[in-house]
Amino acid sequence: MGVKAIIGTQWGDEGKGKIVDFLSENVDYVVRFQGGSNAGHTIKVGDQVFKFHLLPSGVIRGKVGVIANGVVVDPEVLVEEIGKLKSRGIEPKIMVSDRANVVMPYHKLLDGAEEAYLGKKSIGTTKRGIGPCYSDKVARKGIRVGDLLDRDLLREKLETIIPLKKDMLKLYGLDASGMEIDEIVDRYSEYGNKIRNFVRDTTLELNKAIREGKEILLEGAQGVMLDIDFGTYPYTTSSNTISGGACTGSGISPKLIDEIIGVVKAYTTRVGGGPLPTELKDEKGRYLQERGGEFGTTTGRARRCGWLDLVVVKYACMICGVDKIALTKLDVLDGLKKVKVCVGYEFEGEIIESFPSNIRVLERVKPIYEELDGWDSTKGVKSFGDLPKSAKRYIKFIEEFVEVPVEMVSVGAEREKTIVV
Ligand code: GDP
Ligand code: IMO
Ligand code: MG
Repeated sequence: MGVKAIIGTQWGDEGKGKIVDFLSENVDYVVRFQGGSNAGHTIKVGDQVFKFHLLPSGVIRGKVGVIANGVVVDPEVLVEEIGKLKSRGIEPKIMVSDRANVVMPYHKLLDGAEEAYLGKKSIGTTKRGIGPCYSDKVARKGIRVGDLLDRDLLREKLETIIPLKKDMLKLYGLDASGMEIDEIVDRYSEYGNKIRNFVRDTTLELNKAIREGKEILLEGAQGVMLDIDFGTYPYTTSSNTISGGACTGSGISPKLIDEIIGVVKAYTTRVGGGPLPTELKDEKGRYLQERGGEFGTTTGRARRCGWLDLVVVKYACMICGVDKIALTKLDVLDGLKKVKVCVGYEFEGEIIESFPSNIRVLERVKPIYEELDGWDSTKGVKSFGDLPKSAKRYIKFIEEFVEVPVEMVSVGAEREKTIVV
């Protein structure tokens, strides 16, 4: 089995957390490699519900949860998540990369300020400081987890950074009085003390584990359509969510990844702004939203819903080199007489072959649909053979169009409602 990467192929919230939980029974490490507390992964085990933002989902099974270098870490959220698990009797095993960048208080303020500045054109971010933190990382003005353990270095860095951030906040008309160097050095050094025992060179640890034949799951956050390079830019997140991001975000060589699993929701959702070609603004969209419980784990916002867009899924599978698809939330489509899937885009009377990079084009494309028969219910189904005939046809249609086999089908949020094909 070796190293597997689990990647979202749409706009996030495909059910990555559930699939990671299902697959993590026999693994040793579960690794987050990008994103930060913008992620929201919900896992249901029996009557228990776990919601993760930063911690890898595998920690509830007692696996080592690694927060690798590509993640942006909000230590406040990290400490809170650890505390919540402990209060439920779970002592999570965690490693945090000393190279991961830290989400600082000014990042969170600037995230909100930039969104307010954009007004109607706002991205609809989660306001967790993700974009400003990654911007600072690339601009080489980031604070890294290792810096929280070196008070002098932290102070030295902040002495350069904070005056700049104060000016920026003032430019946006915000009160910058809370951004005092002494207070931030104290608070963030204290976080450093709290997480000190988890901080490692995670790249070294992971590569050693691979050499020893340990099993590793790389848990993606967000989805390919939110990737900073390949998504619906600028309506994206600020990291590489594609499988390639698993290598840069963890220091595991591409040669060492054995399998890439693309998580595909049986329909489409998106939170926040930006184009969504198959969006349903009618009662069908509300049907999916209600049956699917499509409300964000992180922000509580209602997710926009639409038919399955196979143009998106095929593009995502190509970029990520997806070997197998895990199809989730098939049960949400139960009870529909007909279901549609998008198999192409039309723009100004022409069929577009490749996924458009121009946001104006993407906003105006008309989805070309194939209509398939719906089915009554997938309730209680435990094997592929027992699925309703039209549900099997739906799955086959996806496999043939995307040219990737569907090897897992999820028909409910609970761990056991997973069919291995
Ligand atoms: P992630 O961000 O990709 O991990 O996905 P989220 O956890 O944000 O959203 C998926 C939601 O759907 C969660 O509330 C899951 O509990 C739920 N879920 C996952 N798989 C299924 C499924 O097959 N059927 C149903 N009905 N719900 C599911
Ligand atoms: P998981 O891991 C769905 C969206 C936000 C916004 C855009 C940019 O649960 O699938 P950001 O705060 O990252 O700068 O916001 O990306 N977004 C997500 N949408 N699921 C997520 O994570 C998301 N993380 C960010 O809504 O449109
Ligand atoms: Mg989510």
